[in-house]
Amino acid sequence: MDIKTRVATFQDLDIIFQIEKDCFNSGDVFHKETFEFFLTKSETIFLLAVKSEKNRTGNDLIVGFIIAHPKSNSKFEIVTIDVNPDWQNRGIGAILLREIEERIKEKFQSDTSGAKDFIIELVVYENNHNAKKLYTKMGYQISGKLNNYYSQNRDGIKMNKKLPVKQTHT
Ligand SMILES: CC(C)(COP(=O)(O)OP(=O)(O)OC[C@H]1O[C@@H](n2cnc3c(N)ncnc32)[C@H](O)[C@@H]1OP(=O)(O)O)[C@@H](O)C(=O)NCCC(=O)NCCS
Repeated sequence: MDIKTRVATFQDLDIIFQIEKDCFNSGDVFHKETFEFFLTKSETIFLLAVKSEKNRTGNDLIVGFIIAHPKSNSKFEIVTIDVNPDWQNRGIGAILLREIEERIKEKFQSDTSGAKDFIIELVVYENNHNAKKLYTKMGYQISGKLNNYYSQNRDGIKMNKKLPVKQTHT
């Protein structure tokens, strides 16, 4: 499929928030301010999935996004990943996850102080089978459980993936 990724900007905020609302109809929708916060942080990686052809108004057709934020000098957290429901199950989630992993690897290549590997962590609602399937397919493993992590006392599952620091060739 013709999908490319690019870094999100403030101009994309409305569509990002719309996709979030379309993806989650529960109380766990991120506030618009949360997306604004991540858009201002230079250490955050905030990527969009964009269809190659433009929409009717000549703008990018944004179909999904992913956010990753550093937790320590050897850990990144996937804050969230959303694909517009009309575009799910076509490999876009996997494209976003693969691309953000590459960008995290690059960050560790330049930032690391001799570490051999790093960890990407995330939390997923235990009944979110689509997301769990995607993460498992991409090599993430269950590392624990967070009781009452979500609204309405729903539990979260912690998952992570260890990746090697990208080696620089001199
Ligand atoms: C979770 C989520 C991001 C997954 O995104 P997605 O784009 O649907 O995921 P993918 O298409 O990459 O992968 C899921 C399945 O799609 C299918 N798929 C993958 N590539 C495909 C392709 N090129 N063509 C057709 N189907 C494909 C596969 O069935 C794949 O699973 P499988 O390979 O194990 O069978 C999406 O369901 C979503 O946005 N959900 C709502 C928000 C959410 O819950 N986010 C997670 C928060 S933790």
